[in-house]
Amino acid sequence: MNYSKFSIPRGTSDILPCDVQLWQQMEAMVRNILSVYHYQEIRTPFFEETELFARSMGQTSDVVEKQMLNLQKNTREGEKGESKKSYSLRPEGTASVVRSYVENNFDKKENLSKLFYMGPMFRGERPQKGRLRQFHQIGVEAIGPNSASPFLDAEVIALSVRLLESLGVTDYVLKLNSLGFSEDKKNFSSMLRQHLEQKKSVLCLTCQERFVKNVFRVLDCKNAECRKIVRSLDIGNSYLSKEAQDYYQRVKQALTSLGVRYEEDFTLVRGLDYYTQTVFEITSSSLGSQDALGAGGRYSQLVSELGGSEGVDAIGFSLGMERILLALGQDSGSSEQGIDVFFVAFDEKCFLKAFELMNQLRQQNILSDIDYRLGSIKSQMKAADKACARHVLIVGQDELQKGCVTVKDMKTGEQKEILFDQIVEFFIS
Ligand code: HAM
Repeated sequence: MNYSKFSIPRGTSDILPCDVQLWQQMEAMVRNILSVYHYQEIRTPFFEETELFARSMGQTSDVVEKQMLNLQKNTREGEKGESKKSYSLRPEGTASVVRSYVENNFDKKENLSKLFYMGPMFRGERPQKGRLRQFHQIGVEAIGPNSASPFLDAEVIALSVRLLESLGVTDYVLKLNSLGFSEDKKNFSSMLRQHLEQKKSVLCLTCQERFVKNVFRVLDCKNAECRKIVRSLDIGNSYLSKEAQDYYQRVKQALTSLGVRYEEDFTLVRGLDYYTQTVFEITSSSLGSQDALGAGGRYSQLVSELGGSEGVDAIGFSLGMERILLALGQDSGSSEQGIDVFFVAFDEKCFLKAFELMNQLRQQNILSDIDYRLGSIKSQMKAADKACARHVLIVGQDELQKGCVTVKDMKTGEQKEILFDQIVEFFIS
């Protein structure tokens, strides 16, 4: 029977062995820096109740409205309460981290929980360069009762920039704004409606709907006409209360003291509903239309909205890992790390001896391999080259008789014979 081949789902990608090293380096670098800033890793499930995402990001956000990847229910009927719940793959990490924070009563245990995560997120978007259906984020969330501080905002923003710079990203712009407290946000949205009222009919049809449902989203529209209108708006941030203005001012001062350069952008509102006060986004001109390397902000209501205590403040950000690699021009690696030893055996009898010796070397953590096909010596040497072996250990009939192997140093070409029972010692000394 002729079976058709499967292909990878659109908007996802395999991270092949030749690229994994690059990802591991990036992850190790990030973990190292985050530990210096005293962040601890949290791992949450890849799927959660759909309602969790709808309630946190907002029913009218693009992600919830159009991009949720919902799981088909396969819980057995009759399982307590389960059958009524709908689940979705996580489109982001913040909602899950807050769910876990509340569920595990972190607010009773810690003044400030500094958490980070790294892993895949899922959004049913139309794939294009830099926009995937499965992508990876590095995320940071600092959550704690009464923890709002302009210094913490500045530190979190500076940390996002430090991570990018340490990974080698140099071409970026940090954009900053404040949405103010809940009341200010309301003022902001009515002010925006007033400004847009006259031009409403020129907006695209989706934005005419957004004007009614969630006017902030007009500011993110990619339609050329809508962008022109948004650019012509003179909004400023007069909607901010005195308290919010002061806070924002102090965030900017603290950023300056940390040497972080930013650009204020009064149209930066972010597409997710949970933000209050400070918001930021880091873009890179090298990325094309999907130019955000990362983004984040403060979210002071989310913990209580998800059932936690009142007065628990939080701030965080996420960076898109694929976009970082794109910005670095390193979306694919090339590296074969190389191995210490590659065995070359003349025939099956020699192979058996080589097999035994290889096992002894591996017990001592010496990276070793062999070509199991037992082809010609030439093809085995080729395999050794491909594996970037530092030494080739040849077991031929002569060697078997003498009780030794011929060790060839692949860099210098030097060869010597070593007795079977001295091989391990030779490589560990
Ligand atoms: P976000 O702006 O939706 O925010 O995503 C953060 C970053 O994830 C983006 O700037 C981008 O680099 C990457 N990203 C998003 N969607 C895709 C996609 N389809 N393909 C490739 N990369 C993508 C959040 O997710 C918030 N949870 C950030 C946050 C954390 N706010 C507070 N804490």
